Amino acid sequence: MREKLIQAALKARENAYVPYSHYQVGAALLTEEGEILQGCNVENASYGATCCAERTAMFKAVSEGKKHFRAIAITGGIQGKEPEDYAYPCGICRQVLSEFAGKDGLTVIVAKSISEYQEYSLGELLPHSFGGDSIV
Ligand code: THU
Repeated sequence: MREKLIQAALKARENAYVPYSHYQVGAALLTEEGEILQGCNVENASYGATCCAERTAMFKAVSEGKKHFRAIAITGGIQGKEPEDYAYPCGICRQVLSEFAGKDGLTVIVAKSISEYQEYSLGELLPHSFGGDSIV
């Protein structure tokens, strides 16, 4: 399944809309039911309106009624090249992922290719996170 998820992230990366940064990111989210939802970064001339690949995938999923996830694969790099480094999720995306990480947590896979990847728990990437249970 890890291989399939990375493959889906690499494929999603091809659709990245990146006329400003020329940095393409692809993400693939795995639901608890085994479904895969893909996302890419979508930039905007008003830079702050850009949406990261991870959030694109997450918002697609949630808007389709899927809210429970097991893992996400992320791949990124300069447009037109194979990924050369690991693309770690930004802080905002870590926070958004944490909103929907189940009780067993979420596995975050950052990949350069199917055979070159690192695996983390979201808890490792976002320790002491702020969540809904903090709000009375
Ligand atoms: N980007 C992502 O898609 N995900 C991240 O976690 C970090 C950054 C995108 C946003 C922008 O389109 C480009 O990468 C450069 O910042």
